[in-house]
Amino acid sequence: MADEVVDETKSGGFFSNLLSELIGSPLNLLLLAICLFLLYKIIGGRRDTTPSAPKPQIPRLKKKDFTLEQLKEYDGRGQEGRILIAVNFKVFDVTRGKRFYGPDGAYGVFAGRDASRGLGTFSLNEEALKDEYDDLSDLNLEQMERVKEWEMQFTEKYDYVGRLLKPGETPREYSDTEDEHSEDKSTEEKKKD
Ligand code: HEM
Repeated sequence: MADEVVDETKSGGFFSNLLSELIGSPLNLLLLAICLFLLYKIIGGRRDTTPSAPKPQIPRLKKKDFTLEQLKEYDGRGQEGRILIAVNFKVFDVTRGKRFYGPDGAYGVFAGRDASRGLGTFSLNEEALKDEYDDLSDLNLEQMERVKEWEMQFTEKYDYVGRLLKPGETPREYSDTEDEHSEDKSTEEKKKD
């Protein structure tokens, strides 16, 4: 009988180790809880598609550069419900990702903000969302790489709108033809300045 108990413990070794690892560390427990909460929000958002209310299409935003203050107006709570997010000094229209960035979305904290630090440090905390312009100069190489990876992902998935302006920087004039293109090539050149 005693042997059977020992065998059962052996076969469940992986799971009991995992469990004791989780229970043994409050930090792990907290991280697990955060992940489960985010998953719950994401899956909940996916299910919440009210077919009775057809979504009105909002017009594509004319290309323009934004100050941090101007960006704040686009947090999804405005009349249009438009949501803009800055990543690596580029502003993207993420309205079509409303289930993530809308007021009830798992990543709603990023709406109308510069999300770079949060994405680079894998943090949704308020400290990662500065109210002043953030030059990201204190992020390490790995964190900056992560920011750039997110920037690439956003470029593929969402419309690029313009640049995030430094305080005192003058916005660029965009021509109408540039509005038709999703990615502004000249921005790359400008970034090198
Ligand atoms: C550790 C727990 C986490 C879990 C389980 C989780 C889960 C997920 C999943 C499943 C998706 C894909 C949703 C889809 O495409 O349908 C997603 C997307 C995303 N996650 Fe997380 N996530 C976690 C943490 C984080 C953190 C800490 C951040 C930010 C710092 C973050 C930022 C994002 C962003 C920006 C997206 C992309 C949304 C888009 O496509 O626009 N996640 N996450």
